[in-house]
Parts: sequence; structure tokens; C-alpha cells
Amino acid sequence: MKLLKFLMVFVLYFGSVIGQLPSPDILALLEFKKGVEHDPTGFLLESWNEESIDFNGCPSSWNGIMCNGGNVAGVVLDNLGLVAHVDLSVFANLTKLVKLSMANNSIAGKMPNNIHRFKSLQYLDLSGNLFNSSLPPEVGQLGRLKNLSLAGNNFSGMLPETISGLVSMQSLDLSHNSFSGALSSSLMKLTGLVYLNLSVNVFTEEIPKGFELMENLEVLDLHGNMFDGNLDAEMLLLTTATHVDLSGNFLVNTASQQQKFLPGLSESVKYLNLSHNQLKGSLVSGNEAQTFGNLKVLDLSYNQLSGELPSFNFVYDLQVLKLANNLFSGFIPNDLLKGDALLLTELDLSGNNLTGPISMITSTTLRTLNLSSNALSGELPFVTGTSAGLISRKISSKVI
Ligand SMILES: *[C@@H]1O[C@H](CO)[C@@H](O)[C@H](O)[C@H]1NC(C)=O
Ligand SMILES: *[C@@H]1O[C@H](CO)[C@@H](O)[C@H](O)[C@H]1NC(C)=O
Ligand SMILES: *[C@@H]1O[C@H](CO)[C@@H](O)[C@H](O)[C@H]1NC(C)=O
Ligand SMILES: *[C@@H]1O[C@H](CO)[C@@H](O)[C@H](O)[C@H]1NC(C)=O
Ligand SMILES: *[C@@H]1O[C@H](CO)[C@@H](O)[C@H](O)[C@H]1NC(C)=O
Ligand SMILES: *[C@@H]1O[C@H](CO)[C@@H](O)[C@H](O)[C@H]1NC(C)=O
Ligand SMILES: *[C@@H]1O[C@H](CO)[C@@H](O)[C@H](O)[C@H]1NC(C)=O
Ligand SMILES: *[C@@H]1O[C@H](CO)[C@@H](O)[C@H](O)[C@H]1NC(C)=O
Ligand SMILES: *[C@@H]1O[C@H](CO)[C@@H](O)[C@H](O)[C@H]1NC(C)=O
Repeated sequence: MKLLKFLMVFVLYFGSVIGQLPSPDILALLEFKKGVEHDPTGFLLESWNEESIDFNGCPSSWNGIMCNGGNVAGVVLDNLGLVAHVDLSVFANLTKLVKLSMANNSIAGKMPNNIHRFKSLQYLDLSGNLFNSSLPPEVGQLGRLKNLSLAGNNFSGMLPETISGLVSMQSLDLSHNSFSGALSSSLMKLTGLVYLNLSVNVFTEEIPKGFELMENLEVLDLHGNMFDGNLDAEMLLLTTATHVDLSGNFLVNTASQQQKFLPGLSESVKYLNLSHNQLKGSLVSGNEAQTFGNLKVLDLSYNQLSGELPSFNFVYDLQVLKLANNLFSGFIPNDLLKGDALLLTELDLSGNNLTGPISMITSTTLRTLNLSSNALSGELPFVTGTSAGLISRKISSKVI
């Protein structure tokens, strides 16, 4: 009883001296600080201390802390070389937290199960750290989250079905982790996505259909997974994306697609990379011209495409064309090496079965030309054009 009385007096006294007790926000930040083992610049450890607290509840003088009135609205600790093992669940007490960003440090920890309590969160960037856990289903309750980057950690497991609850999501970057399993088609409900990067994970099975329904999509990067199944012709025809990278998977194409590969391509697509898959078929069918839309970069290398190359006339925007290591045969179309027709800077036709002589190279734009490992014949062509001296010519050892 005496002790209690003493404590109460002490608390009252202490409270009146410093104004008030540390707010829940400050207590949460101090709890987080306990996990920081090394802070080479002193950014956090030298400023996050109780003496420097502003007593309206938000420590605005602490480095990396943004306040909104008496509440913490942002915690930004990017690129500081922090070594830490942290418990992110402490941030659930920051009821007004809008932005949490600690990219490019050496912070280990997991995605907390109480993540759904981060009600105000709009930006979460944990990229370039040592986080390893699965994504708990509760993550789907972050209805205000716009940008989520977990890139370059070791998150694993399947994406939860609940991901469809991230209704405000614009930018989702889960690249370079160990996520696995089939991609749930509930992902297609995120129709506000502008940027989707799921590259370099271990996703399997078919790529779900419906990316063409994401009307704001600009970047679709699914490269470096283990997706199989058919190339989605409808997506390629109708997508709004400018950058589509499906390279490094096990995609095949249907028999009808093999008649004419890429039957149509959306005008939006400027970068298309389908290299390192198992695609078969021809780029020409009958007299019909292949549509290359507005492509600037096309990489179809390392597939099993065959037949003759199309003429490439009427392809005005193409800058990089890589068709290496396929089974193409016949002559090299004249237009590819001519000066006036194309803006081509890089051409790689190596590792095919192209035959015949090489026409005169008059292109003024070409910088890199690789024609090695074909069955070409005849003299090495005379190179004119202004870039002649710069072309790193890798014409075959097989040129006779
Ligand atoms: C968060 O708040 C709860 C109750 O409001 C409290 O019990 C808990 O200790 C707080 N956690 C931290 C890390 O401040
Ligand atoms: C993290 O580092 C990468 C690579 O250096 C950089 O591109 C990215 O902008 C950095 N992230 C942040 C939030 O600074
Ligand atoms: C994360 O790493 C820790 C040790 O670094 C390990 O104990 C834990 O099992 C790992 N978790 C997952 C999901 O891989
Ligand atoms: C990443 O996580 C996966 C799955 O939990 C595990 O098999 C792998 O060893 C981890 N990799 C690293 C570098 O920790
Ligand atoms: C969020 O993502 C959008 C779409 O990719 C991007 O334009 C914006 O810069 C990102 N904002 C932040 C704060 O990272
Ligand atoms: C996707 O993420 C990977 C790895 O983080 C990165 O290298 C790549 O540039 C990203 N793709 C796009 C289109 O931004
Ligand atoms: C296409 O993707 C492959 C594998 O992911 C990559 O090595 C290559 O550089 C990409 N091509 C272009 C032109 O970006
Ligand atoms: C040219 O192509 C061959 C076969 O694809 C490849 O081995 C070689 O590295 C390429 N050369 C250059 C300079 O890219
Ligand atoms: C390469 O083309 C020649 C002549 O068109 C043909 O006889 C040969 O079978 C082809 N080789 C391969 C590996 O396709």
C-alpha cells in the first residue's frame, strides 16, 4: 500500500515535470529501436532518444519521422546500412501511419500477423533487406495500400487469395523473393495496378488470364519464374502495358498460334521480351505481314521459332531486335541492314540456320550486330553508314 502510494506520487510528480507520459506512438518507435544492432551513420540511434521528444505525442525532431499533428505519419529509413532484427508488429500502434519505408538495409524480420491493423498505410517499402516469412492473409485487409514493395528479400509461400482486398494498389513489386505456387486469379481484381513486378520468384502453373482488363497497367514483369501453359494471345492483343516481360519461363504456344506466332500485338506495347521459353512457330504465314505494332524492343531469343524471317518493312520504331538461338532459316531480310528503313541499334540473329550472303550494311544506326553461328556464306560485307566504325561485328566464324 505504501509502495503504491509512493508510485502514484512519483508518477504524478514525474508526469508534471515532463508534461506527459510518452505517447503510444513514441513507445512503439522506442520498441522498434531495440531491434537495431548497428547504425553506421548514427541517423537513428543518435536522434531517437527520449530527451529530444516533442511533447505533443509525435517526435518530429527524430530523424526519419514525419508527423501529422500529434501522430507519426511516416517512418522513412532507406539506404542507411542499418543492421537490425525487428518486430514490425509494434507499428500497429501508429494509428495514423501512412508511409513505412526502410529499403536497402540489412533488416531481418517477418511480415506481422497484425498487419491488418495498419489501417492508414498507403506506402510500404521493405525492399532490399533480409525479411523472410510468408504473407499472412491479413495483408489483404490493407484497403488503402497503394504501393507495396517487398523486392529483394526472401519472402516465401503462396500469395494469399485475400490479395484481392488490396483495392487501392497501384504498384506491387514482389520481385526477387522465393514466392511459389500458382498465381491466384484473385490478383486480377486489382484493376488499378499500374506496375506489377513478380519477376525472379518460383511461381508455377499457368499465368492467370485477364491482365488485359487492368486498364491502367503499364508494366507487367513476370520474368524468371516457372510459369507454364500457353502464351496468352488475348493479353498481348489487348493489354495497355508498354513493358511486357514474360522471359525465362516454360511458356508454349497452341497449334494455331504456331501457324502464325504473335497474331496481333497491342499498340501500347513498346518492350516485349518472350526470350528463354519454349515457343514454336513462324513469324510469317502466307503473304500476311507480321504485325509488330509500335515495338521498340523485341526479344524472342532462346525459343524454337522457325521458318523464314519476315521482311521487316513497315517496322519504323524497332530499335532492338533479338532472335538469337532459334531455328530460323533462309536469308537475312535486306531491310534489317539498310540505312533508311529502320532505327535499329542492336540486331542479334546469332545461333540460327540462316543462309546465303550478307547484303551491304548501310545502316547509320546499328551499333551491335551478331550474326555468328549461322550458315551464312560469301564475302564479309562492306560496311558504309556513319556508325560503321562503331559496329561490333560478330559475324560468324562460319562466314566463308
Ligand atoms: C501497443 O498498444 C497496446 C495497447 O494499446 C499496448 O498494450 C502495447 O504495449 C503497445 N505496444 C507497443 C510496442 O507500444
Ligand atoms: C534501393 O537501391 C536500389 C538499387 O541501388 C535503388 O534503385 C532504389 O531506388 C533504392 N530504394 C530506395 C527506396 O532508395
Ligand atoms: C527466417 O530466418 C530465420 C533465421 O534467420 C529462421 O529461423 C526462420 O525459419 C526463417 N523463416 C522462414 C519462413 O524461412
Ligand atoms: C529463402 O527461403 C526459402 C524458402 O523458405 C529457403 O528454401 C531458402 O533457403 C531461403 N534462402 C536464403 C538465401 O535464405
Ligand atoms: C507508387 O507507384 C506509382 C505507380 O508505379 C508510382 O508512380 C509512384 O511514384 C509510387 N510512389 C511511391 C511513393 O513510391
Ligand atoms: C522488376 O524487378 C527486377 C528485380 O527487382 C528489376 O531488375 C526489374 O528492372 C524490374 N522490372 C521493371 C520493368 O521495372
Ligand atoms: C530479355 O530477358 C532475358 C532473360 O530474362 C534477358 O537476359 C535479356 O537481357 C532481355 N532482353 C532485353 C532486350 O532486354
Ligand atoms: C553472339 O552470339 C553468340 C551465339 O548466340 C554468343 O555466344 C556470343 O556471346 C554473342 N556475342 C556477343 C558479343 O554478344
Ligand atoms: C539448315 O538449313 C538447311 C538448308 O535450308 C537445311 O538443309 C538444314 O536441314 C537446316 N538445319 C537445321 C538444323 O535446321
